[in-house]
Amino acid sequence: MGDISTYIMQRVEYLRKTLTYHSWLYHVQDAPEIADAEYDALFHELTALENEYPALLAPDSPTRKVGGAVLKSLPAQEHSLRMYSLDNVFNIFEWDEFIQKILRLLPEARITDLSFWVEPKMDGLAMELIYERGILRTALTRGDGQKGEIVTENMRTVKNLPLRLHTDNPPALLEVRGEVVISRADFAALNLAQQKNNAKIFANPRNAAAGSVRQLDSSIAAARPLRFIAYNIGRVEAASAWTSQQNIIMGLKNYGFAVAPEAALCAHPYEVAEYYARMSLVREKLAFDIDGVVAKLDSLERQEALGFTAHAPRFAIALKFKAQQARTRLLDIAIQVGRTGVLTPLAVLEPVNVGGVVVSRATLHNEDEIKAKDLRVGDMVIVQRAGEVIPEVVAAVAEERKGTERIFVFPENCPECAGSVHREPGEAAARCLNKLCPAVRRQTIIHFVSKAGLDIRGIGEKWIIMLMDKGMVHTPADLFRLGKTELMRLERMGEKQADNFVNALAEARQNSSLRRLLCALGIRHVGEQTAGTLAQKYRNLDELAAADADSLQELEDIGREVALSITEFFREPGNRTLLEDLRALGLWPQNARKDENIPQSAKLPNPPNPLEGKHILFTGVLSVSRSEAKKLAESAGAKVVASISGSVDFLVAGENAGSKLGKARNLGIAILAENEFRQLAGRASEQERNVQGLLFDV
Ligand code: IVH
Repeated sequence: MGDISTYIMQRVEYLRKTLTYHSWLYHVQDAPEIADAEYDALFHELTALENEYPALLAPDSPTRKVGGAVLKSLPAQEHSLRMYSLDNVFNIFEWDEFIQKILRLLPEARITDLSFWVEPKMDGLAMELIYERGILRTALTRGDGQKGEIVTENMRTVKNLPLRLHTDNPPALLEVRGEVVISRADFAALNLAQQKNNAKIFANPRNAAAGSVRQLDSSIAAARPLRFIAYNIGRVEAASAWTSQQNIIMGLKNYGFAVAPEAALCAHPYEVAEYYARMSLVREKLAFDIDGVVAKLDSLERQEALGFTAHAPRFAIALKFKAQQARTRLLDIAIQVGRTGVLTPLAVLEPVNVGGVVVSRATLHNEDEIKAKDLRVGDMVIVQRAGEVIPEVVAAVAEERKGTERIFVFPENCPECAGSVHREPGEAAARCLNKLCPAVRRQTIIHFVSKAGLDIRGIGEKWIIMLMDKGMVHTPADLFRLGKTELMRLERMGEKQADNFVNALAEARQNSSLRRLLCALGIRHVGEQTAGTLAQKYRNLDELAAADADSLQELEDIGREVALSITEFFREPGNRTLLEDLRALGLWPQNARKDENIPQSAKLPNPPNPLEGKHILFTGVLSVSRSEAKKLAESAGAKVVASISGSVDFLVAGENAGSKLGKARNLGIAILAENEFRQLAGRASEQERNVQGLLFDV
């Protein structure tokens, strides 16, 4: 390097330090201090200098983060210390057994000295990073635990990963272990891009992360939104002062690594049980997929004393959640015709248990979706069910095809009425154009009475189908003409039920608001919000029917397409007949009450309330009186009970909690400290914000 001036060398060093620092601020701290353009200018300058003086190239230069190196295959390398996997438990009874085992193995320990370091169990790919004198030299996948694949070039491109430890006094050797992950939001964007490019759709963030890390061309990995979250160390050659798992995590954080922000120290095994319960409540809201929590005995001395079994540590365990994905066979693809005539393909599946619920149907959305995922009848597929979301087929396991699978051909005719199917250019939906299609009529009536329509209790899909099959009902208006004796002729319809049926309809006929009726009519593009706007402006359906598209468009939120759809609805002869029938029946609301007109979606949404409907039991001394605590619980929608039983959801334990605490633990009931209870109860909206902040700043 004799020819290179000191100035250049110092400048390069300065640029690297500065860029590394700002990259860490941006990707790890989520708190950038300079504009992107400034960063880009410095980056550009460094790239130019390195191109001009190749002798200055270094493995820890931030320019290495963009990838470029292409390999022929991924060579393997032994781990210097084996990368173990973890044993699992699936509930707190098994967690308790794990604790009892530790207590047997550590005779001198008492349960009160067992503190655990707890973290989310990130659902990604385990990775080992080897730093020599503070510089990243090698990245190894876990592989079989003994030997991993070398993926250094790809891991260098991971934006939140330090290529050089943030210290002036690095250890001679440090192996850092953690998980490579992709956030849910990044994953959704990635799959969208893959779909546009006709590239492989990934089943979940874990598969996407694993596929990206094992690319031979590192510029592909560089383009993927990978992140690394550190959770442990392997071999260390340094005078280390670390004596606990917490020390390790704090140490790694200081070296510049992202660690799970919701990691915590639990002073007692039951705090771990609470953490597990809490995380299972918030998991859907986290930025990353997690499949459980990991608890590690905090003391490294105790860890060493317990050691490992053939495949897992005795001092750590994964407390797993119920799986949200499962594999099953795609037996067939059925077509469902909806109220607006849209044909929706539906996966008919070999029944499979996904997170405790048996799934045998799943939506496939539309024709393009089937093509994008290249799903074939007979495929082994991955099915997903998360929270309240309808189950969906995420991908086919193409590797397991036998060649007998059948490519699905979308029908050209409606399966219900054989009418022709039409697809507008640029639209994903295919529609049956037959206005008299029985499926369309059926769904129209089902919608009319449903929650999204007049919300008539006790009259659901099942009855509508039966009434239509018997020829007793052809339009929504026919429902209001049904008499009790007529209804009692139906199978499984008793006198009481027939009474309820007739009463519910009479109630709806007299008391429905204009907004609800507008929703029930199912005018295309008119949802809750638009219905509210219309009901506020027009006194009744006569006034609305008389409005032309121009005057409709003067209203807030109503554009041309919506306005035209409304005028078209009122022109359509079938609809006019229906409206006349409804008027004759007395279902003709005149200007609704004011508050009824506030569209649901314009109201502030209620934050999800974790205590809603839960049974809560108090024990011990609280900072407020029992009656105040009770009031707080009840205002959060919970029910306060007086004694312990399996139906209790949460035990709120104050000071000097007595025998209930032990019983609750035995029953596997989640235990909350008073402040946690207050947080869940009184500050739902704030808690919601905190929860969303979890796992964001990695
Ligand atoms: S600790 C000796 N901590 O889970 C301890 N593992 O099922 C070994 N994982 O291969 C692992 N998040 O890929 C640990 N916070 C976490 C984790 C975690 C995810 C993964 C890891 C490991 C697998 C074992």
